Amino acid sequence: MNTVRAIEWREGKVRFLDQTRLPLEEVYVETDDEAVVAQAIKSLAIRGAPLIGIAAAYGFVLAFNKLQSNDGRTIVAWIEKSTSLFSSTRPTAANLFWAINRMRHAVIDVAGTPLDEMKARALAEAQAMHKEDEEMCRAIGQLGSELLPPAASVLTHCNTGSLATGGTGTAQSIIATAWEQLKLRHVYIDETRPLLQGSRLTAWELEKLQIPFTLITDNTAGFVMQRGMVNVVVVGADRITLNGDVANKVGTYGLAVLAKYHGIPFYVAAPTSTIDFEMTSGKEIPIEQRSSSEVTQLAGRQIAPPDVDAYAPAFDITPNELVAAIITEKGVLRSPFRMAMEMLMKKDLSSMVRKAVFR
Ligand code: MRU
Repeated sequence: MNTVRAIEWREGKVRFLDQTRLPLEEVYVETDDEAVVAQAIKSLAIRGAPLIGIAAAYGFVLAFNKLQSNDGRTIVAWIEKSTSLFSSTRPTAANLFWAINRMRHAVIDVAGTPLDEMKARALAEAQAMHKEDEEMCRAIGQLGSELLPPAASVLTHCNTGSLATGGTGTAQSIIATAWEQLKLRHVYIDETRPLLQGSRLTAWELEKLQIPFTLITDNTAGFVMQRGMVNVVVVGADRITLNGDVANKVGTYGLAVLAKYHGIPFYVAAPTSTIDFEMTSGKEIPIEQRSSSEVTQLAGRQIAPPDVDAYAPAFDITPNELVAAIITEKGVLRSPFRMAMEMLMKKDLSSMVRKAVFR
């Protein structure tokens, strides 16, 4: 499968694709400055929940590489500064906080060892996260493609591919795997207002993968379902809570309601790093508010009267009862999600339970 490397570690630097310039320009940025990485996350030059986590992990390494001393106070100051830099970039994606935690622990675990060893440990942790994400994408693709109906015609939202992860994607990995397995007929891509991740990014990726698709406006989704043009909806997630509620790009909730009305299965694909095991319901998820100008302007041009103020949440919450299954790299979770999640936490997966709950 031909995948884009949205982020890479290259000889002491982070190299990333500036996604705000796509689809017209493929511009890569190389930096050894963690503040540049943090700003890229804020501005959505680096985006997609798993990719944000990987970027923050590499950002921690960049900051760590500047340290000259391994005394406790210096290390603690580095941990706190990097944590505050990256945790203030975007509030919704669970993967960001999961990655920050892993980086903090990786270094604390080897505190007191020579500085070079600590630096090597930090880099190894970030690279391990990147590699694990790549493997998780592969597993999600395999498990998810088994669930698709024959001659699947998939509707998807936002971007969940190589541009959003360390590998082939989440929902998009399922699409690409199904295509390779000759199980996929067609993909409908929501353009995904206001920042157009569907038309700018997913269309760009599917074109490269030579997967047949049609771009639709977000408000065409109901009509394509009514006309029988799609038989499954597959989306990604930014945070999933213990009860199976899902935060994903704004517009996802509406799709789930439409899918329920039309009797179409609505699947969510995400690595377990997207699950927030400390939140019991979607009501607790912090929803990022974007600037009003992202709605009132399009490609730098004002498209509403100049004094109009728009409400611009980046994500919405899909309640668990609208979700047919959550496809993770460890298995397919179905309702009751709370029980499935608890088992996932305990890793208490006897084969009987796995059959009953996970497949
Ligand atoms: O604001 P974005 O572009 O970062 O939002 C991304 C999404 O909502 C994706 O659907 C989600 O992160 C899953 S990506 C594998």
